[in-house]
Amino acid sequence: MSGRKVIVRVPATSSNLGPGFDCLGLALGLYNFVEMKVVPEGSEVTVQGEGASEIPTDESNLTLRAARRVFDLNRAHPAGLSLRLTNNIPPARGLGSSAAAVVGGLVAANALSGSRLSSSELLNLAGEMDGHLDNVAPALLGGLTVVVPDGTAALGLRLEPPAGLLAVAAVPAVNVYTSRARAVLPREVPFADAVFNLGRVALLVGALTEGRFEFLASAMADRLHQKYREHLVPGLTGVIGAALKAGALGAALSGSGPTVIALTNDPEKAVPIAAGMREALGKLGLSAWTPTLVPDREGACTVETADGGAICS
Ligand code: HSE
Repeated sequence: MSGRKVIVRVPATSSNLGPGFDCLGLALGLYNFVEMKVVPEGSEVTVQGEGASEIPTDESNLTLRAARRVFDLNRAHPAGLSLRLTNNIPPARGLGSSAAAVVGGLVAANALSGSRLSSSELLNLAGEMDGHLDNVAPALLGGLTVVVPDGTAALGLRLEPPAGLLAVAAVPAVNVYTSRARAVLPREVPFADAVFNLGRVALLVGALTEGRFEFLASAMADRLHQKYREHLVPGLTGVIGAALKAGALGAALSGSGPTVIALTNDPEKAVPIAAGMREALGKLGLSAWTPTLVPDREGACTVETADGGAICS
């Protein structure tokens, strides 16, 4: 096995999409890469790009831990392992960097050990390790995903995002840690708020799969989590408002923030939407990175297989 190497590409993800708290996610064309190589002994992790100075490179590294889970399950124990992580997804910004780290480790190790685990087994493992099925499902499967825990397993459904959809992200230069953003949520919510979200999540999935963009502004509204997180996410309401004013079809907090994503199907509107969101954050003294991202449709895939081929298109 020594010398065998794979390179896996994993997309960023935006979960919740407004009302779909913990169940909806969209994979985005912004990628981390995991190069995993079997070496004669030891383990070595190097990280370059986003998060390079803060991501651990010892045995606690998430990608390495995920890989070890798969090698254990596949009863394949490489003598040593070298991981080279090249990250474009900024950590702690609500774009699924932890999910990408876990999914990258699982998929790369599975590819190096005969691909014995199915996609559904990988989804369950990833959910168990990351704790956020709504991020790991789109990272693994690509596209628009609906995922729910069902007993001890997860049910994940991949749907095709509509043609021409673009996501303009406003990624402010502040970290929001998911653990803190979950700790501020109430234990109970008003029945009317649950009903508000229930209708919108159904409308949102329908609107996206049918390309009925006129519904998105209403369909992406939320009452279950965004208002409780407002104090952790600088300018949340103002940034969403600025995106809608600049012509976005809909906008919402990405995951637990602080990134906001705004959807459009008009490439010419992406520039004013990004400018509007930057201006709203600028008023608070915050700078932001505002990339326009296309939905990723493939999910985690192998850009270089152990025999030199490629599975990603
Ligand atoms: N659905 C989760 C939350 C995503 O909003 O807390 C965390 O990335």
